[in-house]
Amino acid sequence: MSRPARAIIDLAALCANLQRVHTCAPTQHIMGAIKANAYGHGAVRVAKTLESNIDAFAVRCFEEAFKLRVAGITRPIILLEGFFSPDELPAIIEQDLQIVVHTARQVEVLLNTQLAKPVTVWLKVDTGMHRLGFAPHEIEPIYRRLKRVAKKIRLMSHLACADDRQDETTVKQTEIFLTLVTTLNLEASLANSAGILGWPQTYVDWVRPGIMLYGVSPFPDIVAKNTGLQPVMQLESTLISIKHLNKGERIGYGATWRCPQDMPIGIVAIGYADGYPRHAPSGTPVLLNDQYVPLVGRVSMDMIAVDLRSQPHAMIDDPVILWGKDLPVEEIATLAGTIAYELLCNVSSVLYYQQ
Ligand SMILES: Cc1ncc(COP(=O)(O)O)c(C=O)c1O
Repeated sequence: MSRPARAIIDLAALCANLQRVHTCAPTQHIMGAIKANAYGHGAVRVAKTLESNIDAFAVRCFEEAFKLRVAGITRPIILLEGFFSPDELPAIIEQDLQIVVHTARQVEVLLNTQLAKPVTVWLKVDTGMHRLGFAPHEIEPIYRRLKRVAKKIRLMSHLACADDRQDETTVKQTEIFLTLVTTLNLEASLANSAGILGWPQTYVDWVRPGIMLYGVSPFPDIVAKNTGLQPVMQLESTLISIKHLNKGERIGYGATWRCPQDMPIGIVAIGYADGYPRHAPSGTPVLLNDQYVPLVGRVSMDMIAVDLRSQPHAMIDDPVILWGKDLPVEEIATLAGTIAYELLCNVSSVLYYQQ
């Protein structure tokens, strides 16, 4: 038997989450964010599963898109950061990819390159996130220049604070964006998962769900099941060792956790090299035989220790779940001082797919 650490990907849950997007935004086109290997879930398999019910996919770069094309994905694919260097353009056009254009440099390259075919451009508007994109007043002149070389031009902007349903930033960003969309009368996209679930005024023509497809709530104060989403990934492993330690003995690197009494300790084959967060503190819940036991001591590269006092009869090979339907990844992320996005993207365990 091989090392038991693995992530189980529930494809039915993935489809149900896409259906949730359709229910929220029934008349909009859907561009699924499957960048970063579909947030750790395996981009090719995710794309193949969603392809018949989705309008487009969004990835970070040509290399991610190319893998999808090689695997036979024919839906439109948008490069969210566009091209990084002019020599990518021939391949981008050959693979029929769409590009986000967000810098003056990209505009100049497009205007000064003989393209084999015109390309579809998503002009990125910086409505307040101040990450990528042109200031709203710069868009119209750029649009007029690019019209000469682009097949189609659409507008895109990104929401900075939509995960906080009280934050006025989203209202302001939406107003700025909708004014521009109306002036130029172009197809447009604004809403990410938090926009889709919390801000219907952000829908416009295309919505861009990412994290909600994977069954994770984009809101820090609402768990996934209360947003009608189903977790897609279960990270699991097994107990590979059990030892009986004496009161006062200490566990793992740095010897940070001391046994308060004579007690059994279990070692699980999972660690930060698998994507389990190193900063998960002692006390972080782990599901062993369907019951919670606390992590104790530091997370190692490929192992963690758990307190087995509540399960004295646990045995080697017993199943362990690190996150999944009964242990939200959001909860583990919070305890580790990060967000579920990061934990999912970092998973490097073997992926198994369930229909
Ligand atoms: C430009 C853009 N659109 C959409 C998304 C999807 O966001 P979320 O995963 O929060 O739905 C992302 C993700 O970071 C993004 O960068």
